[in-house]
Amino acid sequence: MKGVGVVPQQKELRLIDHLEPAIAAPNELKIRTIEVGICGTDREICTFAYGQGPAGCDYLVLGHECLGEVTEVGPAVKGFKPGDLVVPSVRRPCGDPNCIPCREGRQDFCETWKFTERGINQRHGYMTEMFVEEDRYLTPVPPGLRDVAVMAEPLTIAEKGLTQAWQVQTRLPGWEHDNRDGKGRGFGRNAVVLGAGPIGLLGGMKLLIEGFRVFFYSRSPKPNFKADLAEQIGAEYISSLETSVEELAKRIGNIDLVYEAVGEGHVTWEVMRVLGINGVFIMTGIPAEKAPIPVFADNIMRNITLKNQAIIGTVNASPQAFADAIADLGEFKRRWPQAINSLITGRHKIDAHRELLIGKASGIKNVIQF
Ligand SMILES: NC(=O)c1ccc[n+]([C@@H]2O[C@H](COP(=O)([O-])OP(=O)(O)OC[C@H]3O[C@@H](n4cnc5c(N)ncnc54)[C@H](OP(=O)(O)O)[C@@H]3O)[C@@H](O)[C@H]2O)c1
Ligand SMILES: [Zn+2]
Ligand SMILES: [Zn+2]
Repeated sequence: MKGVGVVPQQKELRLIDHLEPAIAAPNELKIRTIEVGICGTDREICTFAYGQGPAGCDYLVLGHECLGEVTEVGPAVKGFKPGDLVVPSVRRPCGDPNCIPCREGRQDFCETWKFTERGINQRHGYMTEMFVEEDRYLTPVPPGLRDVAVMAEPLTIAEKGLTQAWQVQTRLPGWEHDNRDGKGRGFGRNAVVLGAGPIGLLGGMKLLIEGFRVFFYSRSPKPNFKADLAEQIGAEYISSLETSVEELAKRIGNIDLVYEAVGEGHVTWEVMRVLGINGVFIMTGIPAEKAPIPVFADNIMRNITLKNQAIIGTVNASPQAFADAIADLGEFKRRWPQAINSLITGRHKIDAHRELLIGKASGIKNVIQF
């Protein structure tokens, strides 16, 4: 089978002739890859900063954002049949019997950091024609979401982030009752999304369906495609090149939640200064390590204490987050059929992999179709 992979020792990205896998355990399924999304992680693996194939294999098949179609099911598989659409998750548990999160299927909270990840770390990914996976790592997708389900994986980060934010905010009288009138738990609250890339735009959509007033704070001045999309879905778009963080805060009022999707320390810590009273700051960014930068450390620390603020990281996700992402993609599609589709700015053949993975970044979400 054709696949796209890296050979880390030779610092090479290439088309791989990958062996077609077969079902080897009763709870496994064979799946035909429909499409695979490309993200910053794939591009970083192609700089050879990290990324490693399975033991004994000199290459790693890339790809962790996938939509596939079941072609064959093992004898113990329940709930899936050939023809079903599925989204596979990424992280697999460590082998430590004492790692309770991994033993309970919550390897997104692995305590040993010896987990593996498909398409990233010690397991082949999905950028190939077929793959085999256990049923517990698959989420079913309704046929009506075939055109958008490849975005489920990047949306799970927002799902996990928001779930944690609600868990924190149940500390506040009022928040847990906010959904009583059906307007969403964030109704009457302000959220800032930092960055308007795919992670930010999907996170912003999630915040909007939760009822928040959403403000994107991102770099490029208007007009631009991402700002148009933000406005189409009912958010406000503010350029960080035109509006300072202080002006942003003045314009919004109390900032109840920040969803950081920028991967840039400087702007992140600037915005941390204006997080509101009882606010939650969700971080998704994974910046490369750089030289130290000055931040208003005392001012930020004072605020965290005096304003009861919380900072939450979100990485990878649980089966529930995948199920929530699929359900929410359905809601996005009902509300914004055009906008959700235009997040996928290109569907490409496998031959375009080099340009997509090591060429100049372009568009919002690019996808390889198989
Ligand atoms: N936690 C996880 O599991 C996970 C998973 C995937 C990705 N991530 C991380 O999520 C972050 C976002 O990913 P992405 O794919 O959406 O990234 P992206 O496509 O690079 O988008 C980044 C956005 O931030 C904006 N931006 C960049 N520098 C800025 C600055 N100084 N001030 C204001 N805005 C700025 C960009 O503006 P322009 O439009 O002007 O370029 C762009 O809209 C990355 O750090 C990535 O590593 C995390
Ligand atoms: Zn990704
Ligand atoms: Zn573990």
